[in-house]
Amino acid sequence: MSIGVCYFPEHWPQERWENDFEQMAAAGLEYVRMGEFSWSTLESERNEFEFDWLDDAVELAGEYDMQTVLCTPTATPPKWLVDDRPEILQEDPDGTVREFGSRRHYCFNSTAYREETERIVTTLVDRYADTPHVVGWQTDNEFGCHRTVRCYCDNCAVAFREWLENKYDTIETLNDAWGTTFWSQRYTSFQEIDPPGPTPAEHHPSRLLEYARFSSDSVVSYNRLHAELIRDVNPDWFVTHNFMGRFPTLDAYAVSEDLDLVSWDSYPTGFVQDRYQADPTRDQLRAGDPDQVGMDHDLYRGALDRPFWVMEQQPGDVNWPPLCPQPGEGAMRLWAHHATAHGADAVLYFRWRRCLEGQEQYHAGLRKQDGSPDRGYHDTMQAAAELNELGDVDHVGAPVALLFDYDNLWALSEQPHAPTFDYWSLLGSFYGAVRAYGVQVDVVHPTTDLGEYDAVVAPALHLVTNELADRLTAYVEAGGELLLGPRTGVKDEHNRLRPAPQPGPLAELIGATVDQHESLPSHIDTTVQRVTKQDTKQYAFRTWAEWLAAEDARPLLAYDMDDVESGRTAAVQNAVGNGTAVYCGVWPESDLAASLIRPLLERAGVPHSELLPDGLRVGERNGHTWVMNFSSNRYRLISDADRSWLVGGPTVDAFDVAIADGAIVDGLAVTRLG
Ligand code: GAL
Ligand code: ZN
Repeated sequence: MSIGVCYFPEHWPQERWENDFEQMAAAGLEYVRMGEFSWSTLESERNEFEFDWLDDAVELAGEYDMQTVLCTPTATPPKWLVDDRPEILQEDPDGTVREFGSRRHYCFNSTAYREETERIVTTLVDRYADTPHVVGWQTDNEFGCHRTVRCYCDNCAVAFREWLENKYDTIETLNDAWGTTFWSQRYTSFQEIDPPGPTPAEHHPSRLLEYARFSSDSVVSYNRLHAELIRDVNPDWFVTHNFMGRFPTLDAYAVSEDLDLVSWDSYPTGFVQDRYQADPTRDQLRAGDPDQVGMDHDLYRGALDRPFWVMEQQPGDVNWPPLCPQPGEGAMRLWAHHATAHGADAVLYFRWRRCLEGQEQYHAGLRKQDGSPDRGYHDTMQAAAELNELGDVDHVGAPVALLFDYDNLWALSEQPHAPTFDYWSLLGSFYGAVRAYGVQVDVVHPTTDLGEYDAVVAPALHLVTNELADRLTAYVEAGGELLLGPRTGVKDEHNRLRPAPQPGPLAELIGATVDQHESLPSHIDTTVQRVTKQDTKQYAFRTWAEWLAAEDARPLLAYDMDDVESGRTAAVQNAVGNGTAVYCGVWPESDLAASLIRPLLERAGVPHSELLPDGLRVGERNGHTWVMNFSSNRYRLISDADRSWLVGGPTVDAFDVAIADGAIVDGLAVTRLG
């Protein structure tokens, strides 16, 4: 396990560099990432290359025993290039050109930009082909940051038509698959189909879903161009890309097929502000939500089913969320441990030193703008000392799979049918309940082989093919425990309703169908009760409700609101073969989610803790248990096992972490001390 940092030598006088590398090494940092926005420094005019500075920086890093990850600089095409070939610029749906002056202003389908990419990447990788200490390459930087996956320019129109023709072959097939008779949308040729621009009313959902798939595929092929050029020159290098948190438009599973290593950029106190459904609590503003970040760790670990890296870790306060709270004392160290417990092999902080110029002056570094150590530096030093000690760590194995699918995300974000419907948050409600029982989760694509999992949770499996339904049925028959969430089995792969009641090809497996659905505003109290009256508790749900008609299945939950749905079935349980399928037709609040997850874990024989408080999470790796406190409370762990501790002990302070030697999750409980 290693710690590192992102560094921009080009922002600082060369006399300063040695001092910087010395301080990095003193902090125990082993990796440095460089070069991702450096095109105009590397090539100030066409074919006027200046590599000496980067050669020197890589060399110096090596002298201090640090390995370098270099980046292709394509996220920032320089001004001379944009002026020379303006057709590379992206366009908004209304035709507005995204101008030079920030970053990510190029179109993934521009042949001109692909030529320029090939030119700069080839020149760079040739230059460093035999340089010791360069261990791998990051392609570009955060594909899709600033809403740039979907472009609407003429290049994209041409590429979209080709993509469609490739997929459908004839226009009649496309018309039939989409159902273009609706509102007279039939096409007579592929040439008539444009990217979805501004229209008076909403677009056809099948066309929107295809545009989402096409746009993501455009990035996949652009990334592949980098990967091939890099591997051609030196197959020993790893190829990675730094994805983002809860990123809605790029299929990370598909991009990852061309990578050796998946990495992502984690900014916990930013994410709770700008991609979260509730107002963040005070503790969340200080350290983020461990389940929000954890679900991304598990998604990116699952993408290649191997350890991942955090390529950018928040170092302190950051500039881009609405507010820039200071992280809690120790939070920067806690995040590195949290990433490790979820399967990271390296965590690199972004950035080394607060920048004196440009757009990110209000973004902390590990060092302040005068070069002196900032809060993050001390945390990083401690994390590096603790984690370097662990040496090589195993891959994380999880007994539970959560099925995640970008097609479902895209289809549901086009037709949410409730202002608060959000695919990530719905999945987060189920994910959070599993994590609250101390159980590890793999966030995987539905095509993954599920045989190795004791339990599978699949909320909002919206588009379901017959093939997927057969696989899920076989999984349950063979003894698997399956929990399906609302809005499952609604549509086919073309984003069309099936001529069968929901959940379509899954109806037999769950032994029930969905009779009606409705969405409800947050100011109405919405509750269900257990059907067996032993548990008379009212459980809250939110946003979405389905009325189920049970056939073979046993009703599990019924609505108990004083309204039209009262008494109707909200969830069912069906024994099939050696396993069980549960279908929950509502979006559960946390109590309800926990009350569905606990019996699932018990039926599946998964060892678990008692329900842990919000903010306190555990994770197991390499035979050790990490206990991570994302809250300002103090907790004491109660566990039968007498443990030795590698870090800390059974009392865990605010924003602190402890590592027990051995597995302690089974039966673990905690009490709050203050
Ligand atoms: C990331 C980006 C970095 C930097 C950082 C600031 O999204 O990759 O270049 O802008 O955010 O937090
Ligand atoms: Zn374009």
